[in-house]
Amino acid sequence: MVRKSIPIHDLRASGPIPAATGECSVPTGSLHDLRGRRMRDLRISVTDRCNFRCIYCMPKEVFDRDYQFLPRDSLLSFEEIVRVARLFVGHGVSKIRLTGGEPLLRRNIEHLVEMLAAIPGIEITLTTNGVLLPRKAQALRDAGLDRITVSLDSLDEEVFRRMNDMDYPVSRVLEGIEAARAAGFHPIKINAVVKASVNRGSILPLAGHFRESGHIVRFIEFMDVGATNGWCMDEVVPSSEVVRIIDAEFPLQPVDPNYTGEVAERWRYRDGGGEIGVISSVTQAFCGTCTRVRLSTEGKLYTCLYATQGHDMRALLRSDRSDAEIASAIGLIWQGRSDRYSEIRTAQTAASRRIEMSYIGG
Ligand code: GTP
Ligand code: 5AD
Ligand code: SF4
Ligand code: SF4
Repeated sequence: MVRKSIPIHDLRASGPIPAATGECSVPTGSLHDLRGRRMRDLRISVTDRCNFRCIYCMPKEVFDRDYQFLPRDSLLSFEEIVRVARLFVGHGVSKIRLTGGEPLLRRNIEHLVEMLAAIPGIEITLTTNGVLLPRKAQALRDAGLDRITVSLDSLDEEVFRRMNDMDYPVSRVLEGIEAARAAGFHPIKINAVVKASVNRGSILPLAGHFRESGHIVRFIEFMDVGATNGWCMDEVVPSSEVVRIIDAEFPLQPVDPNYTGEVAERWRYRDGGGEIGVISSVTQAFCGTCTRVRLSTEGKLYTCLYATQGHDMRALLRSDRSDAEIASAIGLIWQGRSDRYSEIRTAQTAASRRIEMSYIGG
């Protein structure tokens, strides 16, 4: 299928940065948005590049043709990332997730982890496709990374190659998961996006493979993020169906969330074989408890995965603004937030031009 090229500069337009006035102290902890939601979870995209071309995220016919990746000098430096991360932590953020693109492609990523780990009171997590973990897992662990999530959409060679579209075999990801386990990451979460026409048949084998391993597979509904993945509702396998398929073979029972606002709904095997999760971003939106904020590779701040405009943090970081002024601007952005895209998805909103997930960070 031929799709139109995306004039990416349009999609990256900046929203206004609220004016931060004069002297102010760095706020701590009690920010609420217009819907009463707190800011807890900062997701930082450290590169917009990836060695995979997953059909639901970076379809080849767009990303290998005329997609303009960011020039290297537009990326936030590690020092800039850490500076801004500290300000978010001051506002109550307690979890930082490094994403991409593929975050392990960012040179010396373990050094960034080490710098972030020096900030007290936060959990540092990372989402990866896994193939670079045999080289990186131990260094990441030693640097202070707390948790790892690995994407793996199928155990079937042909299906997996169709999903990643770069001919990576399943074994490369399984070796990555094993390297992470050996480095001390436990449990590891395995993210599987389900696209009905491609990997519906992979649900049960994935569940069966990771049963009793201690790892937690989470099945994710194929989402209409970005503007290039050709999303349509027919390709979404509702989480209720995923649960039914697995429960018929390995009986399941629901488990309470680990924390309020947890994205995945948890289910446990009745026979004690561990747990799975389902992420129902399409059929059961969770915007009501959304505590997430996203920083793109070039330092734009987005208050929703489906935003069309970001706020230019890099310009602030590279100006003579003080930490207090930047913190105040962040606070005003959060306090003015009312996003709930997944709850109000309609034909019209689905047609709006949105940022790619590889740019904004999953
Ligand atoms: P834990 O810290 O392990 O609980 O991670 P998490 O639940 O935040 O999960 P993760 O970051 O692995 O997110 C899993 C997937 O859920 C993402 O890749 C997205 O597909 C989806 N997702 C996460 N956050 C959001 C969100 O804010 N909105 C929507 N619509 N989907 C999200
Ligand atoms: N739908 C759902 N999840 C997606 N991801 C990327 N694109 C999509 C999409 N269209 C998420 C997956 C993957 C992570 C890197 O980003 O969870 O594991
Ligand atoms: Fe890369 Fe992850 Fe997107 Fe796949 S889903 S193309 S591995 S960033
Ligand atoms: Fe949060 Fe936007 Fe996702 Fe809703 S759609 S959960 S508001 S990021």
